[in-house]
Amino acid sequence: MSYQIVTIDGDGIGPEVCQSAVAVLREACGSGVLDFIPMPGGALHYQRTGQVLPEETYQACRRTHAMLHGAAGLPGVTYADGTEVGNDLHLQLRFKLDLFANVRPIRLYRGVKCPLVGFEPGQIDYVVLRENTEGLYASRGAGVNLRGDVVTDTLVMTRLGVERIARFAFELSRRRNGAPRDGKRRVTVCDKANILKSYAFFRAVCTEVAQQYPDVDIDYAYADAITVHMIKKPDFYDVIVAENMFGDIISDLGAGTVGGLGVAASAELGLKHGLFQGAHGSAPDIAGQDVASPVATILSGALMLRWLGDEHQDTRLLGAAQRIEHAVEGVLADGEAVPHDQGGSTRCTEFTAAVCRRLQ
Ligand code: IPM
Ligand code: MN
Repeated sequence: MSYQIVTIDGDGIGPEVCQSAVAVLREACGSGVLDFIPMPGGALHYQRTGQVLPEETYQACRRTHAMLHGAAGLPGVTYADGTEVGNDLHLQLRFKLDLFANVRPIRLYRGVKCPLVGFEPGQIDYVVLRENTEGLYASRGAGVNLRGDVVTDTLVMTRLGVERIARFAFELSRRRNGAPRDGKRRVTVCDKANILKSYAFFRAVCTEVAQQYPDVDIDYAYADAITVHMIKKPDFYDVIVAENMFGDIISDLGAGTVGGLGVAASAELGLKHGLFQGAHGSAPDIAGQDVASPVATILSGALMLRWLGDEHQDTRLLGAAQRIEHAVEGVLADGEAVPHDQGGSTRCTEFTAAVCRRLQ
């Protein structure tokens, strides 16, 4: 069986890091397994054509097995309401393809400098699971602006939306090895249930779902408090589930504790579709200089293989995913190649070549 993968290079460093991941995926899977289908999209494309997500790109995403994306967004390319055009590319994909689960692994790799004192690789290994299709983002493009005097965005929670992200969290925890601190399978519900009805609803529905998973602990943390816990006791966490906006924020904090957005992979999953991309942005200031780190996008490619491997019971892909993760960690751990964001001078293409050599 072969898999059709849409690649959307996007803007800024997007093409460099996306093509890096494609090269690594080709090396790891060999020929005849992955067919890459490059499709246009993003802010630059919008400037040229007026479309951030062309219909033919959307249809290709809908029809194929998975999507691999570089990054999108260029400063100053905005809609009349002030929101950024580039971001609309994957926001449209999220909402149109119902990619409700944004899976953001937070893992300290050997060879990556950890800004937290006293934590070693293996002690920080959790996932921020962000509900990806409602919450405060449900108001994107739908907020109210009255006479330029009063502007509101509404936070939306639905029972379906919360139940399915909670179930995803508990199922994910079951597939992991528990929190590094105590090996316990644990889902931490991050909210502000003490203040807002919507978050109290989020917490209540997560608690209902937890009843079906007696083997997984449930834990609660307010969104403000959890920012301290993620610094002081990151080894306590296994899976943190959060509403869209809170998930957006704490996942960047989590990435910061394990080396930055340059190593932060992400998988945005629906029932039938998956979008894989680094959690970083398009970094236009360093675009075209071959200095971007491809680590986040390469690791997102490994997440894509894991997801496809699980969906299609294809052990070839699961093996390739593991080899890619080991190769990236080996290159980082041996200091063979140190990306600029980690204080080194390795070029994007050089890091890619180092990973490919390990895979050969
Ligand atoms: C992310 C990004 C996006 C978001 C932007 C680029 C639309 O910050 O994926 O974390 O806000 O979700
Ligand atoms: Mn973000």
